[in-house]
Formats: sequence, C-alpha cells, structure tokens
Amino acid sequence: MKILVTGGLGFIGSHTVVELVNAGYDPVIVDDLSNSNIKILDQLTKILGFTPVFHELNLCDETAVSKLVQDEPDIGGIIHFAASKAVGESVQNPLKYYYNNFYSLINLLRLYGHKPLNFVFSSSCTVYGQPDVLPVTEDAPVKAAESPYGNTKQIAEEILRDTIAAGSKFNVIALRYFNPVGAHESALIGELPNGVPQNLVPFITQTAIGKREKITVFGDTYNTPDGSCIRDYIHVVDLAKAHVAALKLMETADFKGYDVFNIGTGKGSSVLEVINAFEQATGVKLNYQIGPKRDGDVEQVWGDVTKSSEKLHWKAELDLNTMMASAWAWEQYIAANPL
Ligand code: WQD
Repeated sequence: MKILVTGGLGFIGSHTVVELVNAGYDPVIVDDLSNSNIKILDQLTKILGFTPVFHELNLCDETAVSKLVQDEPDIGGIIHFAASKAVGESVQNPLKYYYNNFYSLINLLRLYGHKPLNFVFSSSCTVYGQPDVLPVTEDAPVKAAESPYGNTKQIAEEILRDTIAAGSKFNVIALRYFNPVGAHESALIGELPNGVPQNLVPFITQTAIGKREKITVFGDTYNTPDGSCIRDYIHVVDLAKAHVAALKLMETADFKGYDVFNIGTGKGSSVLEVINAFEQATGVKLNYQIGPKRDGDVEQVWGDVTKSSEKLHWKAELDLNTMMASAWAWEQYIAANPL
C-alpha cells in the first residue's frame, strides 16, 4: 500500500520512511525542503537499496496539492509530519506557524477527503502543558498552550476530530510524541538542526564533537530530584515504529473514526541524567554549566503509555544508553560526511 509521508525528509519523517519499507509499505515522500535536506533522499537510498518516490512541494499550495492528488491517486494512507516546529520561533513569528501548520493540514483533508484514507497526525506532548498528574494519560486535560507551536498542535487535533465527526471517510490517529532523540543504527540519517540547536540532545552531540564550547543546563532549582527538568526521551526509531502500528490499527475492521496515543517510554529522565547517560554511553566528557531557567519550559512531563501498549500494540524498546550512543554515531558521521 502507498503511504504519503509529508515532511518525509525530516528527522522523524525519514526514520518513518525506513520503518514503512521494513513493514512492507510503499512510502511516497512529500517535502518542501524548507527545514530538511534533499541529500537525505540519497541517505535513504543507501539504507533502503532504492530511492523512494519524492515530490518537492509546499502543502499550503492548493494547486500543487491538487496535482499531487492526480499524480498519486492510489494513496492508501497519509502520515502528516510537515509543519513548522520550533517553539521559540513560533513565539517570534506566530502567523508563520498558524498559516503553515493549518493550511497544509486543511489542504490535505479537503483535497484527499473524497478517499477513505488512514491518516496519522504528528501531535505532541506540548498539548498537556505542565500536567497536574504524572505520568500523563491521553485523557488528561489539554491546557492552554505555552506557545503558538503548541497551540497549532492542539487546534489541529480539534480540526481532525471535527472533520471525523462531520462524517469524513478518513480514519485518524493522532500520536502525541514526547521527546524524540537518537538516530538510525546505520548512522546514515539523524537529526539535522538548522543553526544553533534548540533541543538538548543535538546540543550535547555538537558539544561532544567540538562544534559548541559547552552546554548550558537551563536551571537546576526545579522541584525535581536533581533540580533539572524531566522529560520522556524516546528513540526516534521506536517513534517511527509507532506510526506503522497506527496504520495497522486503522486497517483493522473494528477501528472507526479518531483516536489519540501517547508515544513515549513512560519513563522520565532529567537533563543532568541525560548528560550523564551520554558520558557513560560514549566515554566523552561533556563541558556544561548551570544557567538560568528557559522561558516556556515545563518542569517535568513523562507519558503514561498503557493505552499505546494495550490498544496500539506498540511499546518503546530502546533505552537511553542506545539513544545517546546512536545520536553520537550520527554526529560523528555527519562531521566526517557533511551533507
Ligand atoms: C529538553 C530539556 C530544556 C537545551 C521540544 C519541543 C517539543 C517537542 C520536543 C516537537 C528541557 C533542557 C535544552 C539546552 C537544556 N518537539 N535544555 N539546555 O523543550 O522538552 O521539547 O522538543 O514536538 O514541542 O518543545 O525539548 O530538547 O528543547 O529540552 O538544559 O541547551 O532540556 O530546558 O528541560 P523540549 P528540548
């Protein structure tokens, strides 16, 4: 079955393309290359042994999407990653986020809406804000978003739910990711941040390789065991496999409509624990300092993944050590083989 993978040359998208092929699907990649690198297509070719079909287009361009629907009529499912996703940038430029993240989704839903498709949506744990109860379950109250980016994820879930309620032919599963990190075991694909990394793990690996002088730990006076923030870090390959599990669930006769799942390990790790895990996994000593808290950070969040295990029949398998080792292998590869 052909699966449209929007944002398929991005970090999570490219890893999902690999797992789709491993599961016998036929991925069709769509990407506008605004936050990804065309060379990732060559990297995927090295892993897969063939070059997946690729369409360069912006999903906000209705004419381009209409042409895609004609060019790719036998799509059986869509995995929608394509979106702007930098929290800080969304605060500076909210209209870019509302325009890009909503128009792309609405065009897909409208222009493919005549087909009974299985649709997997890339959502985020940011919809929970700082949960009142941990681990956080899927029926926890969605709180006021901490950023326009988080708001686009909350509203996109509502758009999907309302579309289904209005009788859409689609089945929809929203996957609420926790913190995706690491890289494919081949070290041929991984996270490729533009400029100075916003996220912790790419900043760690760039410090380890010497591209950054040191890491700043954003606060160590939180109400957590070691004072630093806690997150649920999940290996990007485990996350990619969750998308395959979502397609499989929607292909079963008893799935109808809309559902949402937490995609994490169910385990929280602090910033200082991640730094320590990296040093243990790689033998590389990291230079870090404690700095002020970062605006918008929640203190601690990790997922209850019972529903994903019992209903999605998916569970994360890779541990923090593997996440750190694979992220380091990718950083070393990309340093020696710039794309
Ligand atoms: C993790 C922890 C920082 C950098 C983001 C997005 C979220 C989702 C996942 C898309 C925090 C600390 C970080 C640094 C640090 N992405 N940190 N020094 O903010 O939990 O989530 O990625 O859906 O939407 O917001 O991830 O990696 O930025 O931060 O101390 O140089 O590491 O304070 O506690 P975050 P992150």
